[in-house]
Amino acid sequence: MAVLKNATAQVNVEDGERVQEAASDLGVSFGCRKGVCGACVVEVLEGMDNLSAKNDAENEFSMRDTDRMMCQCSITSGEVSIKP
Ligand code: FES
Repeated sequence: MAVLKNATAQVNVEDGERVQEAASDLGVSFGCRKGVCGACVVEVLEGMDNLSAKNDAENEFSMRDTDRMMCQCSITSGEVSIKP
């Protein structure tokens, strides 16, 4: 069992599952859900190594190295702390 959390709450996620639903539960806003609009980009404060590798959509979008798209990545295991 993995965990996606922010400063005030946390949501359990099965190992290997996409984080989209958990991020939504934590208040992250979504738009296209296709890796195009950038609405779901958050800063990863801890646990970047516990997320899947960036896919093409994330690599093509201009964002900081510490940012990830919550509509695109999965959590492999462990904890990931985000700042929406
Ligand atoms: S919701 Fe548009 S990039 Fe994630």
